[in-house]
Formats: sequence, C-alpha cells, structure tokens
Amino acid sequence: MGKINVLIIGSGGREHSLAWAIAKSPMLEQLYCNPGNAGMAQVSTCVELDTDNHQAIIDFVVDKKIGFVVIGPEAPLVDGLSDSLQSVGIMAFGPSAAAAQLEGSKAFTKDLCAAHSIPTAAYRRFKEAAPAKAYLQTKKMPIVIKADGLAAGKGVIIAEDLRQAEAAVDDIFNGQFGAAGSELIIEEFMEGEEASFFVLVDGKHCLALASAQDHKQVGDGDVGPNTGGMGAYSPAAVMSEDMCALTMREIIEPTVKALNQAGTPFCGVLYAGLMITAEGPKLIEYNVRFGDPECQVLMMRLKSDLLPALMATADGSLADITLDWHGQAALSVVMATRGYPGSYDKGSTISGLDQAGNRENVTVFHAGTAQQNGDIIATGGRVLNVTALGATVSQAQSRAYGAVDAIDWPQGFCRRDIGWRAIEREKRHPQ
Ligand code: AMP
Ligand code: GLY
Repeated sequence: MGKINVLIIGSGGREHSLAWAIAKSPMLEQLYCNPGNAGMAQVSTCVELDTDNHQAIIDFVVDKKIGFVVIGPEAPLVDGLSDSLQSVGIMAFGPSAAAAQLEGSKAFTKDLCAAHSIPTAAYRRFKEAAPAKAYLQTKKMPIVIKADGLAAGKGVIIAEDLRQAEAAVDDIFNGQFGAAGSELIIEEFMEGEEASFFVLVDGKHCLALASAQDHKQVGDGDVGPNTGGMGAYSPAAVMSEDMCALTMREIIEPTVKALNQAGTPFCGVLYAGLMITAEGPKLIEYNVRFGDPECQVLMMRLKSDLLPALMATADGSLADITLDWHGQAALSVVMATRGYPGSYDKGSTISGLDQAGNRENVTVFHAGTAQQNGDIIATGGRVLNVTALGATVSQAQSRAYGAVDAIDWPQGFCRRDIGWRAIEREKRHPQ
C-alpha cells in the first residue's frame, strides 16, 4: 500500500495521543492537525480551519491530497462531518450523524437498549417538569437526572433526595444546559464500579481494544465538581477477560446489530461507560469517540500500528485486523490550570516539559497548549497529560508523578491519587 496523508480534527490530549501514534506509522506520508496544539505541532503541520465549515475541510483535504481524516471529538461527529466527507468520497474515521446519536441523545440510546434488552438503568423520558416531578414522588433516592443532549459531560445530576431531584428537573428545563435540556431522563441509580471499554466497529465487525478507568471529579478522593477527566489508567482490573466477553455479548454486539438493522451502521470507536454491578455489566452511556484522557493510556499500551486499524474501521475491513498490546499498565495524570473546572486564567508559561518527557517510559501529551515567542503557554482548562507505562499501576503512577514533578508550572495543578482504586487492589493482592 502507498503512503498516505492524514488529517486529525481536534486539539485535546486525546488528539495528541492519536497524532503521536499515527506519526509512528510506516504508512504515513504527511500528518496535518486542525487546529492541534503545541504538542501536536511537534509531530504534524497544524492548520486553522473552521471545523463547522465542512466545505472548507473538504477543500483542504482535496488540496493537500489527504486520504484519511480522523475526527477526534463528538461535536463534529454529531454535526455530520463524517457524512460530509464520505459523501464526496473522502475516507473518514468516525460515525455518521445518525449513528452518533448514541452519544448525541441519551433518550435515543436508552430506547435502543430497551428495544434490544441491553442491560442499563431503568428509566423514563420527560419533556415537561410536572410529570417528571410526579414520577420522582414514586421513586427511591438517590436517583439520576440527565439532560438529553450533549452537555460537555455536565448534564448529569445524581440527586440524594427529592428536593435535589426536583431542583435538577427545574434547572434542566430552565435552560441550564441550553438546548441539551429540552428533554430529560430520570433513571435508576446503579451501584458498582465504573469502567470504560473501547471497541472499534466497522459497521458490522467489532474489535475490542482495551479497558480503562477515568477520574471525573476534580479533587483527590473523588470529591468536588465533575470535569472532563483528571486522569486515567488501563487496563481496569474489574474488566477481567470474562467481564469483557460478557460486555461484548450483552452490550456491544446487540448495539452494533441494532444500528445495522436500522440502516445506520456504526463505524468508529464505541466507548461504553459501564457500571459493573452485582448483576453484571450495565451500560451507563455510550460515547462515539475515544475518551480523553482514556485514549492517551490506550495509545501508550498499543504496540501495533494504529493507522491501518483506523482505516479498516472506516472501510469495513476490520475483520482482517489484529492488534498487539503491551501487557504493562499505563497511567495518565491530567495537569489543569488552577480554577478548572470553573473559570481560570490563560497564558501562563510552562517549562520543564523536556525533562519530564525524556524520562523513561513517559510521554507528555498536550491538551490546551500553544507556542508563544518560543515558550509553551497554557490556553485551556486541561493542559497536559503526563502519561507513563509500568509493570503495575503503582509503578506507572510513580513514573507519571515523577515526571509531573519535573514540570515547572506554578499555575497548574493535578490530582495526586490517580489510579488509587487499582493501587489499593495491587496492595491487597501483590504480584
Ligand atoms: P454520564 O455523563 O452519563 O457518563 O454520567 C456521568 C457520571 O454520572 C457517570 O460517570 C457516573 O459516575 C454517574 N452516573 C450516570 N448515570 C448513573 C446511574 N444510572 N447510576 C449511577 N451513577 C450514574
Ligand atoms: N474522560 C471522559 C470522556 O472522554 O468522556
């Protein structure tokens, strides 16, 4: 096969790790990223195109003879960028807008689960506050209230009592999450341990990648407001081989089949947010893209060439692909700007990145960074993902924090306990 030019859409740590993996591919000719960040600029040519302007992306792809476009975040997928590219014969990684409804509408996914007996929390949909509140009166607490649409991971409220639950209903219908809150779901609270599970799907065939665990809350000990994710590790011990097989059989495969039958096959990476309950794995939600920072730990563990696997996902030939993984654990610590997930200042200077990144088994992925007069500056909330491999999660953790400590960025902070659940397990069951 000839070499190929590739364009990655996005600018987060997820996209940097995809760029880092694709840059190693012998199949790659030239890599472009839109818009990218300071880390991605080290392995690609970054451009500034308006991702909402699909024609501008198509024109650029044609001009630069790009053969494959990898779409990182959910918003352009839900907006149909993959459809626009494919309608003019451009190969793209990422599902159609119709299949992206799995992430774009929680009600769509819940209805699909109900129709195909896929295990998930019991639920009801509501378009008005009065019937939602009447329903709440009949339910046990805690209970979970969710805005239907995309709300940047913030549209979920776990209410401990009726008062909180009613307030959540009012907040959603009063527009706290904008258009995402024109409908809401009330669902049963599931007890268990959470895990993320990633599977490539080419419309028909599935190729399980790996599992991971995220740390959504901003503070050590899982306290404080939710964020996009403050750190992750892979694999998740709770996702044993049997649990992965059960998840494939009961959750992933029926979903893939249902979308196929509906005439809207899913092509891309299916990210199942799972609750491992006493009754087995249950779906919390689907995302239609890699997780961030879960992608970073997956990319560290992947031994095989990523590019042909993503291309096979897009062109329906995934059945021909096998992937090799490092048996080691990977762990990623997110460094964020002080104030995140609330308001924060932009533009602080970061140094020490080379000392950190040159350590053995460590890679520092960039998220909200830019180059300014030769310095690397912070431009976002989540800024760096300090990622390490280790024989155990404990070793990966100590390597990652060793590298964090080599970074000089007084305006940054991170959680100090990423991986705690796995490390407690490792202490209980030393290898
Ligand atoms: P989501 O945005 O749907 O992933 O939800 C955000 C977080 O809320 C999840 O990661 C879970 O920790 C929690 N959550 C969502 N739904 C439930 C549920 N039905 N039971 C318990 N926790 C939930
Ligand atoms: N880390 C959570 C997500 O990517 O949705």
